[in-house]
Amino acid sequence: MSVVGVVGAGAMGGGIAQVAAVAGEEVQVCDAQPGAAAAATERIAAQLQREVDKGRMTPDASAAARAGVQAVDGVAELAGSDLVIEAVVESLGVKRDLFKELERACRDDAVLATNTSTLSVTDIADGLEHPERVCGMHFFNPAPLMRLVEVPVGALTSDEVADQVGGWAELWGKTAVRCASTPGFIVNRVARPYYGEAQRILEEGVADCAHIDAAMTAAGFRMGPFALADLIGNDINLASATSVWEQTDEDPRYEPTRAQRDLVARGDLGRKTGRGWYDYAAGAPAPVEVDADLARAVSERVNAMLVNEAAALADRGEATPDDIDTAMRLGTNYPFGPLAYGDVWGAPRVLDVLTALHDRHPTGRYRPAERLVRAAATGGRLHG
Ligand SMILES: NC(=O)c1ccc[n+]([C@@H]2O[C@H](COP(=O)([O-])OP(=O)(O)OC[C@H]3O[C@@H](n4cnc5c(N)ncnc54)[C@H](O)[C@@H]3O)[C@@H](O)[C@H]2O)c1
Repeated sequence: MSVVGVVGAGAMGGGIAQVAAVAGEEVQVCDAQPGAAAAATERIAAQLQREVDKGRMTPDASAAARAGVQAVDGVAELAGSDLVIEAVVESLGVKRDLFKELERACRDDAVLATNTSTLSVTDIADGLEHPERVCGMHFFNPAPLMRLVEVPVGALTSDEVADQVGGWAELWGKTAVRCASTPGFIVNRVARPYYGEAQRILEEGVADCAHIDAAMTAAGFRMGPFALADLIGNDINLASATSVWEQTDEDPRYEPTRAQRDLVARGDLGRKTGRGWYDYAAGAPAPVEVDADLARAVSERVNAMLVNEAAALADRGEATPDDIDTAMRLGTNYPFGPLAYGDVWGAPRVLDVLTALHDRHPTGRYRPAERLVRAAATGGRLHG
């Protein structure tokens, strides 16, 4: 059993505390907002009761997990932690100050992890005396349900600490994938074209949202890109796209579309505001039939971009092909890992789709990854 501190008792911190407690750890939660940590322990108790009611957990296991989570007043009380996971607001300044405080409060051998989605682990650890013990531990929402944990490794993170963080995630029943701490890590980077390419297809007038969504669900995806963006929130989706674009020196691969920016500027944030890509005034939009040729044209274009993005990430050595595919299946519920899919489809075919797009739009957005060009030329594999 380990002693785990969780700082930030919001949506993610509460979920992470629950995951650790269910796995038998002794968990202490704190939050800057008075009462927030206690409220999180109550939410966890209610969630655990729901698990018992649904027959997914025994009353004894639920009581043990509940007893394992405790609200504490502040970081000073985390002095005995083996691992502290930070899940406070997504602000570099706030996180840096907090890690300085954690470094002073915690034991020298405590591992300090951040659940950041968009910030650099290297930047968060900058200026600390022991940046080697800072590592990413990126859970997905809702943490108790989502199996994936990305372990983004900062420039100064030690291998041993990254192994320890991955080990905790696996011990808690998650699948851990390791990656470099680069913009979007694996999932938020490789998933960009799922939305971005769909929006370009819309902007070009090839098809409307409903037909593009239908094409993608026919290709095996659980939700189409527009319905999914409306569920996530277009403000959150745009912030994610903008963050990757800005952090990659405005690489045309990630440039947010005019259509998305306009949507957010109008306040059409998705289901939460009643209107996004779709109007929800009369309930969920009805599914439409899509003609097979259109469905193929749309899904090939989006899929080629996903394969290319995954291949580019592997090219840069930021994660192994296996971890990339695992991350995309578990972090986004894609029906397949993009590299394995590219192999089934065939690298030459993926390259043809990109080349045709590149010829029409020579902006750099459709430039093929080295790995794809090589696989197409040699008959090699993208995943292998
Ligand atoms: N929401 C998601 O889908 C999601 C998914 C993965 C990662 N993340 C990341 O997890 C982190 C938390 O996100 P969230 O959605 O749980 O946010 P949230 O707003 O629900 O919770 C943040 C909590 O941190 C507290 N807090 C703020 N500053 C603090 C400080 N200095 N010390 C202690 N507590 C402080 C706030 O009072 C709040 O309770 C962010 O870094 C976010 O990017 C979010």
